[in-house]
Amino acid sequence: MKYYLLNILFAVSLGILSVSCSELKTNLPVEPAISVHGAGFSDPTKANFHGTYIMENNWNIKECQSCHAADYSGGTTGVSCNSCHTSPGGPTACNTCHGNFNNLTYIAPPRALNGDTLTTYIGVGAHTSHLYSNTLSTVACSSCHNVPQSVFSTGHFNSPAQIVLQGLAVANIASNATFNPSNGSCANTYCHGNFAFTKDSAAPEDYFAFTDSVMAGNNKTVQWTQVGDSEAACGSCHDLPPKGHIGYPQLPLSSCVDCHWEVVDDQGNIIDKTKHINGKVDVRGD
Ligand code: HEC
Ligand code: HEC
Ligand code: HEC
Ligand code: HEC
Ligand code: HEC
Ligand code: HEC
Repeated sequence: MKYYLLNILFAVSLGILSVSCSELKTNLPVEPAISVHGAGFSDPTKANFHGTYIMENNWNIKECQSCHAADYSGGTTGVSCNSCHTSPGGPTACNTCHGNFNNLTYIAPPRALNGDTLTTYIGVGAHTSHLYSNTLSTVACSSCHNVPQSVFSTGHFNSPAQIVLQGLAVANIASNATFNPSNGSCANTYCHGNFAFTKDSAAPEDYFAFTDSVMAGNNKTVQWTQVGDSEAACGSCHDLPPKGHIGYPQLPLSSCVDCHWEVVDDQGNIIDKTKHINGKVDVRGD
């Protein structure tokens, strides 16, 4: 590939030379074709890099298919996108434009669409905390925004990314959950403690645990771009235990395991992330 690129650069410079000399010479040999894209189209450090071109052209990678073939394998150009874009799907892979370009398991930012990787940038924010380094729970992309069925699904490339809180984010009493894109604050989500579990809907053998008609969380408003600052500390979404729960305002963290043994250990660590913040009461193995 490198050799090939050098050849193209060489062809381009020959082309430039030949333009300036062409008035003097008449019987030049036919030059190899000048690159249709110009120099630096394969070089991420150059202004003419194809990634930049695609971004400025509203992510229209369909356009490339007309010459590089529908499956991006090169067609008549002889340049396969898939030789560099080695994930299945080549350049349509979900980590090409956002996420980790070298690791298909990380498709969400960091690396936002503009290349930004700082959590203080709204396109990056707390994605990693929710998706990849989460010790408390498992979170689906679809809780916060629509997920395109495929790269070319309608609406996928529309800017800005639209937050549509769904599923777990709006479970229980949290139908009023909102995200404010102007300051990155997220309010009234089920996940951050906008819940109320009622004694009425509990099993009779669980009534003893209620000191009120409901057990309620703290309904914490969180900042998407405030990462590493205890936004989701243990005890922030609900007290330990929550209001209305036997022992409120405080039971030792080491005691939760007595009844919620599927969820926590005797140190208060979450041992089954699929059972914590899953929308359901998990107590005594039910
Ligand atoms: C009109 C036909 C055509 C279209 C459309 C086209 N290409 Fe190409 N491309 C070529 C040809 C021919 C070559 C190989 C020879 C050359 O470089 O001119 C090539 C080479 C390349 C190369 C490697 C060579 C270099 O210049 O560094 C890259 C990368 C590339 N194309 C990316 C793209 C991308 C991305 C798109 C869509 C945004 C695209 N191409 C659209 C015809 C096309
Ligand atoms: C010579 C290797 C090479 C070829 C050939 C190549 N790419 Fe790329 N492409 C890259 C690299 C490297 C990146 C950038 C990685 C990064 O941002 O760190 C990239 C980035 C991209 C991006 C992401 C842009 C962004 O800013 O996030 C798209 C989309 C893309 N390429 C499409 C294509 C298509 C379509 C073709 C074929 C028509 C193609 N590429 C051919 C190496 C290549
Ligand atoms: C906890 C909520 C949440 C989850 C879960 C989540 N996102 Fe996001 N996502 C956001 C927020 C907030 C933004 C920024 C919205 C804005 O700019 O107004 C965003 C923006 C984005 C953007 C645009 C980035 C940019 O450059 O502007 C992409 C792409 C994205 N998310 C992909 C994903 C993918 C893929 C997943 C799952 C693997 C995912 N997200 C999971 C909340 C979430
Ligand atoms: C060619 C580049 C490109 C590829 C490949 C790509 N995306 Fe995106 N993705 C975008 C752009 C552009 C946005 C819009 C973000 C914005 O507007 O700020 C986006 C946004 C998203 C979002 C945020 C949701 C929303 O409604 O904005 C999710 C989730 C997402 N992409 C998932 C995926 C998945 C899954 C794949 C693989 C099937 C994928 N993307 C492949 C460019 C790409
Ligand atoms: C003596 C048993 C017992 C102990 C100890 C206990 N819980 Fe509970 N907890 C329950 C029962 C029973 C419920 C009611 C479930 C229902 O609604 O049916 C409950 C409900 C909850 C709820 C609300 C609904 C749900 O299940 O998610 C939370 C949150 C909770 N407990 C947290 C804790 C925490 C944190 C501790 C430790 C500090 C703790 N509990 C200790 C028995 C216990
Ligand atoms: C990001 C918000 C959040 C944080 C932080 C959080 N929890 Fe929870 N927790 C919840 C929600 C929401 C529930 C309600 C039940 C459910 O959906 O699992 C819950 C329920 C529980 C329960 C009851 C069992 C269950 O899942 O039904 C226990 C026990 C518990 N949490 C312990 C802890 C401990 C210990 C910590 C700190 C290590 C912690 N929680 C941190 C949101 C949180």
